[in-house]
Amino acid sequence: MKSIKITNTGGPEVLKLEDITLEKPGADEVQIEHVSIGLNYIDTYHRSGLYPLQLPTGIGMEAAGIIKEVGSNVLNFSVGDKIAYAAAPLGAYSTHRNYTSKNIVKVPDDIDLEKISSAMTKGMTTFYLLHKTYVPKKDETVLFHAAAGGVGQFFCQWAKSLGLKVIGTVGSDEKVEIAKKYGCDEVINYSKEDFAKKVLELTNDKGVSVVYDGVGKTTYDRSIQCLKLRGTMVSFGNASGPLDPIIVSQSLQPKGIYFVRPAMNQYFTNSEEIQEAADMLFKQISSGNVKIEIFKKYRLEDVVQAHKDLEGRKITGPAVIIP
Ligand SMILES: NC(=O)c1ccc[n+]([C@@H]2O[C@H](COP(=O)([O-])OP(=O)(O)OC[C@H]3O[C@@H](n4cnc5c(N)ncnc54)[C@H](OP(=O)(O)O)[C@@H]3O)[C@@H](O)[C@H]2O)c1
Repeated sequence: MKSIKITNTGGPEVLKLEDITLEKPGADEVQIEHVSIGLNYIDTYHRSGLYPLQLPTGIGMEAAGIIKEVGSNVLNFSVGDKIAYAAAPLGAYSTHRNYTSKNIVKVPDDIDLEKISSAMTKGMTTFYLLHKTYVPKKDETVLFHAAAGGVGQFFCQWAKSLGLKVIGTVGSDEKVEIAKKYGCDEVINYSKEDFAKKVLELTNDKGVSVVYDGVGKTTYDRSIQCLKLRGTMVSFGNASGPLDPIIVSQSLQPKGIYFVRPAMNQYFTNSEEIQEAADMLFKQISSGNVKIEIFKKYRLEDVVQAHKDLEGRKITGPAVIIP
């Protein structure tokens, strides 16, 4: 049994592979043998210290696998069940782990464990962004940044299935076609073009009613420019760095903007909320509305490279670690 541990925060090199032994699972836990582990940008925030953790710690939010043992209080799961999860406590980067049964869901037989391991965080995030945080109406135009990335591919396909018009941004020309393939109606290369100007052009100067912004520091000001009067700014990530302090009188007040900074732990506080999101995700996958193509498979030994690729903007789609 092996697990990635960090004892210091820093660059990708702080990720260390260790041999582990596991106790029997606690009364409310199950012991899982991971089949596949999802790679997420948030893992880099945990590793770098942007989101502080108590050290030493495991790392990784999501995985899928098979239950090998159940704790004495666990009644709704059995040995051999195919399960997946996307929640703290961290430690998904491992071959095996003991994990709380309240955060896991059973995976339907028609859904592949490798694919679902890449989808729990990205898909459940998409679910809450579109069905809870700001719920766009059919035909509404929305803007999503980093549309060719992991969450981007889930979000854009899901948004299309709801009848929305999706404008996506990407950082290179080669990502334009990828974003289109996964559901964007219009794609702007924001490394070359002023995306706010282009969004206003595309919307006849009206702007969009909502921006879903996981890029953060470098896109905030222009995202606000893209919004309609009383539009909603959903700032759900910081791939380019955390936001500078917001000057309310300058960025929110002129158009009466609603600003929200959501995270998964506010939307998935109990098993019912997790199951609701997972059921919607499974339905979107089984119906073909959301297609998952694994972009790359890393070995547990290669997580340093995986983090370099994430931060180097080289990942175009869901990537997994095979333990
Ligand atoms: N709040 C939540 O609940 C929640 C949950 C899951 C994910 N997230 C956030 O959603 C975002 C996407 O996550 P993901 O795992 O799917 O990652 P990802 O989109 O695959 O990777 C991040 C992308 O951000 C773009 N980017 C722009 N500026 C960047 C910079 N300076 N450095 C690195 N990347 C930059 C890059 O795309 P381009 O080259 O196209 O610009 C890059 O590929 C992240 O911010 C993540 O934290 C939030």
